[in-house]
Amino acid sequence: MRSPLTGGLACARANPIPVIARPLVANNAPVIAPSILSADFGRLAAEVAAVQRDGADWIHVDVMDGHFVPNITIGPPVVNAVRKATDRVVDVHLMISNPDAFIDDFAAAGADIITVHAEACVHLQRTLSRIRALGKAAGVSLNPHTHESVLEYVIRDCDLVLLMTVNPGFGGQRFLGQVVPKIAAVRRMIEAHSASACIEVDGGIAPGTVAPVVSAGARALVAGSAIFSQPDYAAAIRTLRGEALATLDGTPA
Ligand code: DX5
Ligand code: ZN
Repeated sequence: MRSPLTGGLACARANPIPVIARPLVANNAPVIAPSILSADFGRLAAEVAAVQRDGADWIHVDVMDGHFVPNITIGPPVVNAVRKATDRVVDVHLMISNPDAFIDDFAAAGADIITVHAEACVHLQRTLSRIRALGKAAGVSLNPHTHESVLEYVIRDCDLVLLMTVNPGFGGQRFLGQVVPKIAAVRRMIEAHSASACIEVDGGIAPGTVAPVVSAGARALVAGSAIFSQPDYAAAIRTLRGEALATLDGTPA
């Protein structure tokens, strides 16, 4: 079963074409998505199990190809290992060129959400449709400098918009505050189109940066170093969720 708190995905893992519950985020609840980029890869299954036990809603998996971003990480076999280690939503962030060539492989590996970068897609609407046709939630990510207008004609094809708050490629970078107005602009776009995409942010999310992004409209919070560099994962996740909930208390839904 998926986390009832977040809506999750109403599918049995054995089902070859899972049925996705939309929207991804239920009741405006914040989602905490630890990024395994900062985990101990030698103990990956144990790390995933630990953050699941300690309150993670989604497990965020950063796929890098050394071409779209200046770093190389992992591919479908590792996503499949994560899949086997958790029943939480597996949130796969593809920082790769030509993602169309690999989407089917990541879907087969057990990803629940597949997010591509708009900068890497020539036919973005086709790519999003393909992800949904595979029974997965479709996400689009924008680098910090990319204008939100690229989403205007595909916003209803998206289950998730992932706004990078660092330049993608590495964990532990400084949060770029100039992205905050873009979060608010995407939120307005989603509302204007009566769309249901969830806004996720990624990069430098830590105590102190949660409040501005949640206030602007982000609900899914990716955090790598702010969780895995801490001795107590449960406390780190509680702190992030607490800041999000406190912000939501003072923010109209
Ligand atoms: C960056 C990745 C992030 C990264 C975030 O390219 O997409 O998911 O793990 O790391 P922190 O939270 O340390 O900034
Ligand atoms: Zn990421």
